[in-house]
Order: sequence, then C-alpha cells, then structure tokens
Amino acid sequence: MRYSKINPELFINNRKQFTSKMKPNSMAIFYSNDEMPKKGDQFFPFQQSPDFFYLTGIAQEKSVLVLFPDCPIPEFRELLFVLKTNEHIAVWEGHKYTQEEARATSGIENVKWLDAQEMVINQMMAHAKHVYLNQYEYPKYKSEVESRERRLNREFTAKFPQHRYHRSAPILNEQRLIKSDIEIGLIKKSCEITNKAFRRVLKYVKPEVMEFQVQAEIEHEFSMNGATGNAYYPIIASGENSCVLHYIENDKKCEDGELLLFDFGAEYAEYAADMSRTIPINGKFNEQQKAVYEAVLRTLKSLTEMMTVGMPLSELDKASKSLTEKELIGLGLFSEEQVKNQDPKKPLYQQYFMHGVNHHMGLDVHDVGDRLQPLKAGMVLTCEPGIYIKEEKIGIRLENDILITENGPVNLMAEIPIEVVDIERLMSE
Ligand code: GLY
Ligand code: MN
Ligand code: MN
Repeated sequence: MRYSKINPELFINNRKQFTSKMKPNSMAIFYSNDEMPKKGDQFFPFQQSPDFFYLTGIAQEKSVLVLFPDCPIPEFRELLFVLKTNEHIAVWEGHKYTQEEARATSGIENVKWLDAQEMVINQMMAHAKHVYLNQYEYPKYKSEVESRERRLNREFTAKFPQHRYHRSAPILNEQRLIKSDIEIGLIKKSCEITNKAFRRVLKYVKPEVMEFQVQAEIEHEFSMNGATGNAYYPIIASGENSCVLHYIENDKKCEDGELLLFDFGAEYAEYAADMSRTIPINGKFNEQQKAVYEAVLRTLKSLTEMMTVGMPLSELDKASKSLTEKELIGLGLFSEEQVKNQDPKKPLYQQYFMHGVNHHMGLDVHDVGDRLQPLKAGMVLTCEPGIYIKEEKIGIRLENDILITENGPVNLMAEIPIEVVDIERLMSE
C-alpha cells in the first residue's frame, strides 16, 4: 500500500451511519470490484469499488461485506470475507490481507475467509426479511461491461427470490455527499501532491516539449509522493487542443506563443483531486491570452464566493453563464445588443463556454450525490469556469476544489499558483 494507514474510525462510522438507515430485520451485502482483463494473462491494476472502500478500507479483489445490525446471531452482525491467501498466491502475486490485517484496516471484528461465505450467508438469510443490494447509480454512467456487484446481485436474488429487496445506493449516495474530517484530510493530501506536480511542470514547460513529456513529469511527481496515480486520465492540451474539452491524446508538440491547458489530479488513498490550470508555453502570456485568462479567473473568484451553505447548484450554474457572458462581451466577442436579440435556445455564450462548473468529488472525481440538494457544510465540489476561443487557439479553464463550511467556502487548492504574476514568475525561475 502506498499511503499511510487510514484511521479505521472512518470506515466504522461510515458503516454505523449506513446501518442506522436500514429497516429492521434486514441484511446488506457489498462486493468488491472485478479485476479487469488487459490482454493475454494480464490485468489492469486493481480498482476497488468506491462504496466498498468507503465501508471497509479494503482495496482487495474478491472481498465481501455483510451487515445485519439486528441479527439474532451477534457474530453475524458485521462480517467481512476476504480471499484466503496461500503459498502459491504469496509467491506469484505477493501479499494479501491476513485476517488480522483486514480487521485492523476495516475495524470489523469478524473477518472470515471467502470460502466460508456461502454457508454463513445461508444461515443469515434464514433470519433476514429484507436485503439491501448495492448498485452504482450515477446518471451519466453507462457501460457494456457488467460489474461484479450487478452479476452477483443477479445470482443472489435468483437464489433467494422470496426476500424483500432494497437499494443501498440512495443511502450511500446521500452519506457520501458529506465528507468527514478524515476524508477531507485525504482529499487535501491529493491536492497537495497535485500542487507539487503543477509546480514541477511550471519549471519544465518550454517551447518544443511534447505534451506526453509534460504528462510524464506530472506522473513522476505523483509516484514520488505516494499517490496511486492519476485520479482520471490527465488532459495536457496545447494550442488548439486546449479547446477540446476531453482531449487526452497528449501527443502534440507545445509551440512557442501558445497556451497549455492542464486538467489533472492526483489520487491518494482512493481520494481524488481535480485541478485545471492554463499556462503560456513560453512563460509569458500575450495580451489577448492574459485578457481571457483574467476573465476566467474573475469568474472563478466570483463563483467561489457564492459557494456557501444553502446555495443550489442550479444557481451556480446560472451565475456561471451570466458571469461568462458578461466577460465575453467585455472581451468583444459579441455585444450586449447581440445578446438582447439572440435566440434564447442558442445563447451566444455557448460558442465559448459549454460545460458545467461544479461537481461533487471525493472517492470518485465525479462523485455520487444528489445535484438537486443545495450546498451543505462538508461537501467538496469543484469550481471550474472556462472560455474557449477556437479561432484564436485560446482555451482557458481554471479549476479548484472547494470545501463548503458554515464559515464559507475553503479553497483546498489555495496553495496552487493561479495569478498571472505567480505563473510567469515561477516559469522564469
Ligand atoms: N477532470 C474532469 C473534470 O474536470 O470534470
Ligand atoms: Mn472537474
Ligand atoms: Mn478537471
């Protein structure tokens, strides 16, 4: 494991919160993710299910968590099953959790080997009336690959068709919206590593370097600081690529006089950072680049101030559009008169600003949670306005991660350079 041991109180409290929402006489079952095949006999590095990690801290394949808070057999109230390791696995794959380690990581007293699962669950099901099954619920999620939880849920309901089934996702998604102090600490650590990587590339970038070489600098700094890697595939977009919102080829040469837009973030202990910055490749913004940059930065600052308890995300979305529209008029891209006469279904700002400005983040970079809920203390969201002028090869996005508190927004990326003078100074050092 690359990260320092996480206080198991995090997982103990998460389970406590979840079980307090379960109906009487009910059992909940959670599965870890599948290992995803790469090619030949290779697998991609294992990615744990965020929900499973959130409830256990266990980042190992083929693990099962069962919660049955009022089970008449006390030792079955909270159970973790982990893969039984053996000498062969130890030689070929290395270390797997022992029962003691799984107990210390998760705070779950009763840890059993996976091969005991079927018999124990049969016994538990004899006492349960309701069963909670988990399934990832995120509006934009679509995949042709069936997840382990979907597959095993199907097998489970076929085996026990007469119990009453419920969804865990609404409870978990609600819980995961509010980050605990331990989670905030982990997100801060991801932001801190992201800061180091950004400062490293400020020194590295100059005309003629390749985008993928910049990516290598970032990933070097991530690894050197114990990050698992990227929280999402990084966008390293120079020149006109800066206007392609999800550009990930990262294979072009950075040209003198053009901009370089980054959107990257470290993942530390499964928690994401999500940052965007835009820099001049030769170390100095030209007048037009600077004007657009300052316009986006003003919008970022105004929107961040609005991220207070009670604010609906729809209001932030509206504000991002009207603030950007005002800036675009200021930049001379269209006039107030043209805005008055525009087709309301096709507002002019949409040519230069086409994406949302906030999303929840945490274990997932686009974290689960109800977007209809106004901001609450403990939520962590991005703030990410941008302006993209393709004809001028100017794409600028600035993105920070913001913690909502009773005392106002806290920018978790306050240490990451963003002012023009700071960027230019650091690039010249
Ligand atoms: N990095 C993805 C996003 O900004 O939403
Ligand atoms: Mn984002
Ligand atoms: Mn981003």
